[in-house]
Amino acid sequence: MMTYDDIRKVFLNYFESHGHKIVPSASLIPNDPTLLFTVAGMVPWKNIFLGTEDAPAPRVADVQKCIRAGGKHNDLEDVGFDGRHHTFFEMLGNWSFGDYFKAGAIEMSWDLLTNVIGIDPARLIVTAHESDDEAAAIWKKVAGKDAIRLGKDNWWSAGDTGPCGPCSEIFYDFGENVPGGLPGSPDEDGGRYVEIWNDVFMQYDRDANGNLTPLPKKNVDTGAGLERWAAMLQGKIDNYDTDLFRNLKHAVSDVTGVRETDENRTSFKVITDHLRSVGFAIADGVIPSNSDRGYVIRRILRRAMRHGQMLGHNGALLSRLYPALVEQMGAAYPELAKNAAHVMEIITNEENSFADMLNNGMKLLETELPKIHGNVLPGTVAFKLFDTYGFPLDLTQMILRDKNITVDVARFESEMAAQKERSRANTRGTKIFWESRTDLPATIDAAKYAPDENMESKVLAILRGGEFVDSADAGDEIEVALDKTNFYGTQGGQVGDTGEIKIGDTTALNVTEAARADGIVLHRGVAAGKISVGDTVQPIVNMQNRAATARAHTATHLLQAALRRVLNTDVEQRGSRVAPDSVRFDFSFGRAMTDDEKAAVEKLVNEWIDADMNVAHEEMSIETAKKRGAMALFGEKYGDVVRVITAGDVSCELCGGTHINHTGEIIRAKINKEKSISSGIRRITMSVGALA
Ligand code: ALA
Repeated sequence: MMTYDDIRKVFLNYFESHGHKIVPSASLIPNDPTLLFTVAGMVPWKNIFLGTEDAPAPRVADVQKCIRAGGKHNDLEDVGFDGRHHTFFEMLGNWSFGDYFKAGAIEMSWDLLTNVIGIDPARLIVTAHESDDEAAAIWKKVAGKDAIRLGKDNWWSAGDTGPCGPCSEIFYDFGENVPGGLPGSPDEDGGRYVEIWNDVFMQYDRDANGNLTPLPKKNVDTGAGLERWAAMLQGKIDNYDTDLFRNLKHAVSDVTGVRETDENRTSFKVITDHLRSVGFAIADGVIPSNSDRGYVIRRILRRAMRHGQMLGHNGALLSRLYPALVEQMGAAYPELAKNAAHVMEIITNEENSFADMLNNGMKLLETELPKIHGNVLPGTVAFKLFDTYGFPLDLTQMILRDKNITVDVARFESEMAAQKERSRANTRGTKIFWESRTDLPATIDAAKYAPDENMESKVLAILRGGEFVDSADAGDEIEVALDKTNFYGTQGGQVGDTGEIKIGDTTALNVTEAARADGIVLHRGVAAGKISVGDTVQPIVNMQNRAATARAHTATHLLQAALRRVLNTDVEQRGSRVAPDSVRFDFSFGRAMTDDEKAAVEKLVNEWIDADMNVAHEEMSIETAKKRGAMALFGEKYGDVVRVITAGDVSCELCGGTHINHTGEIIRAKINKEKSISSGIRRITMSVGALA
């Protein structure tokens, strides 16, 4: 019998002997703002296909860890209900970066499967894109097979945009005892014919409008699911009956005291699958949280706990199963053992905080279910489960799936929206008054990056004590809107400018902060003389204060880059406040930083300051920015044209803030404090410039 370890070896040895460089799996956290996780073996190679990065070798092979849960490639809902879906899986892959193309890829796939591994050619079915006569002819010549020709099923891309191309898939026939039809037939998902390898001929870059531009080179991207190969080679029709999963299921029995039966099979599958995605993701640096990939992992962990509960097991589950995962997969993936203490601590914390909520939430559900009319759970109940008991919507749906009950999702979503609105209203300040002034145009603030000393503006409105007034006098606390301004209004974590508004040679308003209400820049401060709607004024920014803020902002980018180097690349910004010479930076990280780590981060930032690197401020299309690898906040909507701040070769971020031109202007940075602000989120405060 070929085990998982054997299959990895045979695959890699074959491609190594055919001139491929063998590389280790890349992280599950992609360096790609368009994806939550590494969803395929090609993700780490995207920039090479696009031609913006050099290949490590013309031919490469590896076994890549992948997660498909959330986003375009999402198998979460299918896990447990059949034998071949996983949220975490391993993808065997071989790549050609401008080296061999269709013939080479097809020949090697066929040779490995039939001659080396010895699969009966009669059990293999092949497909090709409807436009791809070339691939079909190669199959005829190499294998004597007529490829089934399909449309979108034979076209592959990782995201909506980026590298893509026609593909050719190989299916294995699990035999006539398994129901299901040939690829392209109405019952193709039955399970008899399972896709075991996909050869993608990467030759186009697709843009947001769907236009295809030829890539600089013709490439090959292949992917073969290791779990499916194990089933095929071990004579199992269900991946979860292969050696690795059998061993993990034994561990589930040991922890829960329950044996697998036909009735509880789904729970055994869900738990073993979810153990792998949660364990591997956290080992790679993901922290369960309420957003983005952290939330995907939190949801998966909570689903696993619910299935533990269905087996009659309460409390810690995945944290107790993790050692079994290390035992099964630690040899192939050393990071599992290396980060074991950290992973188990994170999972334990997460499980402890959800255990009681799960029990109490289930009680609420049990009292609500008898009251419902028909087969629909009210959205208000689903929202209460979410808001009070931490049940992600898909967990509630999964629980109700067996009972054939659905959730009123529209109502759930309107409850969510109302809650967001309530929390926004609390932090709104004077914004609410400005929002009522729909007659006011957005402030023209194009000069904010390079203030115009001769700017003349018009006063459009004055707010005093919650009322709009025609004019204010010395001593009044007011907010003033102008038609155009030099001021940077507080935005994106950067505190707005200070300065003054002059009428002729006299100061009319001392601006203590330029704030924003959507598109309107509010000049907030105390009037120094009379100021009236209609006045012509000069908005003058305090450039010394601005320079101190710009120092702090560029330093924040360096801090983030240093954290990602010293801690890991999954450190993600969760919030920030950039003020004159002072930085507050919140980021995802699961434990306190050690003194050594803090010292290393501070040292790195100061080295970069001393290197006096150039800081470029550029505008470009979002596409170009992504190609450059600019860091963006995941899930944030950006316009087509974005501003990119690049500090030397250490940091490249999308950013609308004000920055300095050379890192040397920061003079010095000093980390003052590092502390936890909530589960998985740390806060650093840092001083720069004169303050440091
Ligand atoms: N990138 C291709 C896939 O994931 C090989 O199917």
